[in-house]
Amino acid sequence: MASILVLGCMWGDEGKAKIVDYLALSADYVVRFQGGSNAGHTIVSGGRKYVLHTIPSGILYPKTKCLIGAGVLIEPPAVIEEIKTLEKAGISFKNRLLIDFRAGIVLPVHKQIDLEIETGRRGIKIGTTRKGIGPAYSDLSARFGIRIEDLADPINLRERIKLLYNYHRIRITKQNLEQQVEDLQKNWRYLKKYVGDVEILLNEIAAKQEKNILFEGAQGTLLDLNFGTYPFVTSSRVMTDGVGIGTGFSARRLNKVFGVYKAYTTRVGSGPFPTEILDETADYIRKTGNEYGSTTGRPRRIGWFDAVAGKFSARINALDNAVLTCLDVLTGIEKLKICRGYRYNGKIHRSPDLDNSRIILSQPVYETFEGWDTNISNCKNINKLPWNARLYIEAIEDYIQIPISLISVGKERQQTIKIKAHKR
Ligand code: IMP
Repeated sequence: MASILVLGCMWGDEGKAKIVDYLALSADYVVRFQGGSNAGHTIVSGGRKYVLHTIPSGILYPKTKCLIGAGVLIEPPAVIEEIKTLEKAGISFKNRLLIDFRAGIVLPVHKQIDLEIETGRRGIKIGTTRKGIGPAYSDLSARFGIRIEDLADPINLRERIKLLYNYHRIRITKQNLEQQVEDLQKNWRYLKKYVGDVEILLNEIAAKQEKNILFEGAQGTLLDLNFGTYPFVTSSRVMTDGVGIGTGFSARRLNKVFGVYKAYTTRVGSGPFPTEILDETADYIRKTGNEYGSTTGRPRRIGWFDAVAGKFSARINALDNAVLTCLDVLTGIEKLKICRGYRYNGKIHRSPDLDNSRIILSQPVYETFEGWDTNISNCKNINKLPWNARLYIEAIEDYIQIPISLISVGKERQQTIKIKAHKR
C-alpha cells in the first residue's frame, strides 16, 4: 500500500487538482479531509474542463473510489448539484462515493452570518468565499453544529436547528424551520446511500488490503487555522496533520507528502501578502494564468515566489517532495524575482515570524533571475527546459530545501514533467 498526500503550500489555488488527477491514475481511493464548497478544484481532461468543489478529484477515473472525511463540510444542496452535474457529464457515482457520517453541515444560517461578516455588519472582513465555512466550523467547535448523521431523524433535526438559531440569537419562524427540515430531509433521502464510515473503510479495509490511498488537500498551508496568516485564514486544518484530524487515518501512516507550489504566488481575499505585485507584470500573469477564483470568480492577487513562506510550509508539513505548477505562465517575463527574506526594522526574517502589522510594513528581499521566452508547454523533460527556467527551478528547490519531483507546464494531464528521484 502507498498512502500519499497532496497539499497546497501557499494560499491555495496552487494547481493541486491537476496534480491529484495526475497521481490518481494508480489510486484506489481519493480522499478529501478538510474544507468544503469553498474549494474550487479545476481539472482539464480530454479538452474538457471540470470544476469540483466538494467531490474528490479522483471521480474522473472510473474505478477510483472517492471518500469525504469527517473534517469536510457538506452543504447538502450544493453537493447534490455537483453530483448531478458530473453524472450529466457521464461520470458514474455507483459504489464510488462515501461521505463520513460525522461530516458537518453548512446551513443557510451559516451563509447568512458569513455574508453579514463580509459586508461589514459583524467582525473583520476576511474576504471569504461566502460559503458559510467559518460559521459552520465554529458551530461544530461550539458543539452546536449539525452533522450529516443528524439529518436521518426529523425530530432530532428540528431540535438541533432550533438550538442553533437560539445559540446565535437569530429568530426563526415556524414556517422557516419546517421548510428547512423538509428540505434537509429531501436532501437526506438523496444522499443517504453515500453516507457511511470513512474511518473504518480507510483503516480496516483499504489499509489492510494494501490499497493505494491519495489524500487531496484543499486551500493552502498559509490559510491554515493555526499556522496561516491569522485571522485571514480559512477555518480548517490544512496541513499534513489535518489528514488524521479530518479522516481518522493518522498522518503517521502516510508514505509520502507532496507539497504543491505555484511558480509565482497568488492569494484571494484579504490579508498580508509580502510579495504582492501591482504593476503590469501582475496583469500579465493574471491574464496568462487565468488567475480568477474557481469558486467566486474573483481576480486573484499576484506576487513573486515567496521562498520565506514556502520554506516554512515545507517544514511544518514535513514534505517529502515538492511540485511546481504554472511554470509556463512565466514564459515571456524578462526578469523574475524570488523573495528570500522579509526586512523589518533593519533585520531580515527568514521565517514568517512577524505579526500582520509588521509583515505589512516589511520589505521583501528579492533575488532576481533572467526569464525565458521559448514556449515550454509541450516540454516533457527537464533537460529540455530553457537554461534560465532550470536555474529558476533550482533556486526554488534550494530555498525550500525539498526536491521538486513534478513540474506542470500546462493544464492537461500530459503537460507534466516528471523528475527522477535525486538526493539533495
Ligand atoms: P473561507 O474559507 O470561505 O472562510 O475563506 C477564508 C479565506 O480563505 C479567504 O481569504 C478565502 O479567499 C480563502 N480561500 C478559501 N478557499 C480557498 C481556495 O480554495 N483557494 C484560495 N483561497 C481560498
